[in-house]
This record gives sequence, structure tokens and C-alpha cells, in this order.
Amino acid sequence: MRPSSNLKGQEMAITYRELGLVNTREMFAKAIGGGYAIPAYNFNNMEQLQAIIMACVETGSPVILQVSSGARKYANETLLRYMAQGAVEYAKELGGDIPIALHLDHGNSFELCKSCVDSGFSSVMIDMSHEPYDENVAVTKKVVEYARPFDVTVEGELGVLAGKEDDVEAEEHVYTQPEEVEDFVTKTGVDSLAIAIGTSHGAYKFKPGTKAEIRLDILEEIIKRLPGFPIVLHGSSSIPPELVKIINENGGALKDAVGIPEEQLRMAAKSAVCKINIDSDGRLAMTAAIRKVLNEKPSEFDPRKYLGPAREALKELYKHKINNVLGSNGKA
Ligand code: G3H
Ligand code: 13P
Ligand code: ZN
Repeated sequence: MRPSSNLKGQEMAITYRELGLVNTREMFAKAIGGGYAIPAYNFNNMEQLQAIIMACVETGSPVILQVSSGARKYANETLLRYMAQGAVEYAKELGGDIPIALHLDHGNSFELCKSCVDSGFSSVMIDMSHEPYDENVAVTKKVVEYARPFDVTVEGELGVLAGKEDDVEAEEHVYTQPEEVEDFVTKTGVDSLAIAIGTSHGAYKFKPGTKAEIRLDILEEIIKRLPGFPIVLHGSSSIPPELVKIINENGGALKDAVGIPEEQLRMAAKSAVCKINIDSDGRLAMTAAIRKVLNEKPSEFDPRKYLGPAREALKELYKHKINNVLGSNGKA
């Protein structure tokens, strides 16, 4: 029994199992053996969550629901937790008893990870990748030691993605050094490792005129040193040009947006990469649908009339990723 964070000072035990959630251990073991990756989709509101669940039930895919610190601030952490519990019930109602994990995305302190472990998350990421190696090891190890008795799985990160990760901004990629991975995994005891091989967050992943290519050679080196160990790719949106076009044709201004080619993600998913994080593509799908409705029907002011199509577009995008990029369809 352990306390939940916030109930008028009263202590109340909440475990992720009571919410109907699972950790990522079995999902990852099956994904590595089966040569596919689990979708890790971020959510901040009801429509995003509905779209994720509908897509995963319709395709029979396991799923990792990701919550960032920004999402916790935006939507309220208590609400998000019970939305995840609602998602489990909603999936069953739709006829799919799929494995669902609730994961903290980019936890930036021991305290934040602890609070998530204490309040029903089944998995947490501790991201100390911007800090010196020894500090990364020390804090990650501390999170693993706290999470272990509750059987909450922990993702660590080595290497720095270019662009913005929460409040930290990096000009250039600092690729994961393959010679560090064994030491990091052994010393910390993490269940999975996020690596930097040229992916990055947001809609501008490659500079105009440069080749959109990730370092699959570094991935291969890492896999050689950690055979069978779950690897995670962040920043894996593909920024579909057709969505960027709809946005720009309907009053948007996204210039030079470029993502990771799906073919490269497909190759990664077939190897030990067993969790692929996708957020920006969902943002684009929603924004494109909303802009289109509001542009074409300027008198519309019922949020359901633009959030409904946005939810539908999001669901189709998620299904496409599962069926054609990650290969997790039918693996629930
Ligand atoms: O890693 C970044 C994710 O896309 C979450 O983004 O921090 O704006 O919620 P956010
Ligand atoms: P994208 O910005 O490429 O969708 O990456 C999302 C992510 O890595 C969340 O942690
Ligand atoms: Zn990320």
C-alpha cells in the first residue's frame, strides 16, 4: 500500500494494476522477439486518448500512453490518471482487451518519477541525458531502486537529441556512444534505453538541403553490445507533407518541416527498437483537420464539429503507424 498524491491530505493506495494498466516488460519482450515496436503516443486531452484507444483496438495493438510534464501541467495529473483508467474500460467496451501502459515521458527529476510511481503510472522515463554521465547514472539508478519494488518499469536515456526536450535545448545531436551503453545499463538497472541516433523532437528534424537520415549504423553497434535489450526511439514523427500542406493551405505557416522517413523507422522497428515515440504527427493531424473545418465553415462554433474530425484524422494516422510502420497490429 502506498499513498496517492492528492486527496485532501488523506492517504490512499493506488497501484497501476488497480487502474487496469500493465508495465512495459512483457510488451517489450514480445516486441523484440516478434520484430515490431510498441506505439508510444502522447496525450493531453480526451479526443487524443479516444483516438489512440480506437486505433489500437481496431488494429489489435498494445499501446503505451505517454504523459509529459507539460501534459501534467496542462490537463491535471489526477484527471490524466483516471482518464487512463477510463481508457482501459473504454477499450474493453470497444471489444479489445489490449495491454495499456501509462508512462511518464521525459521525467526530469527523481521527485517527479517518484510521484508518478506513487500515483498509478506503470512506467517512467528518467531523462538525465543532458547531465554529465556520472550524474545520469546516479539519478537513473535511484529511480530504478525506487520503482523496482512496485514493478514499475524505467526508461533511461544516453545521448542528446538535437532541438528542444522540455526546457532543455541542444543545437546539435550528441549521438549515443555505443561503448557507454553496457556500463550504463548494468550500473542503473534500467528496463529500456532511449538513444540518440539522429531523431529529434518537433516538426523540423533536418535542415533544408540536408539528407533526412538517421544513424542506423550506431543503432546496430548498440544492439551488438546489448543483445536482446529494449531500445527506445524518441523524436520519431515523420511529419507527413500532406498534413503540412493542409495546414499551410488553411492559414498555417509551417515552413521547411521535415521528419524521419517511415522506411527508416520500419527498419528500426524490426530490430531491438521496441518503443517508438510519436507526438508531433498527431499534433499535425489534429491541427490540419481543425484548420480545414474552421477555414471552410467560418460560422461553425461547436467544438465537436472540429474536434470530431480531428479525432477521426488522428485515429487514422495512429492506425497507419501501427499497420505500416511499427508492425504492432494483431500483437495485443
Ligand atoms: O518529448 C516531447 C513530447 O512531444 C511532449 O511534448 O512536452 O510539449 O508535452 P510536450
Ligand atoms: P516527435 O516530436 O517526433 O513526435 O517525438 C515525440 C517524443 O519523442 C515524445 O517523447
Ligand atoms: Zn521524447
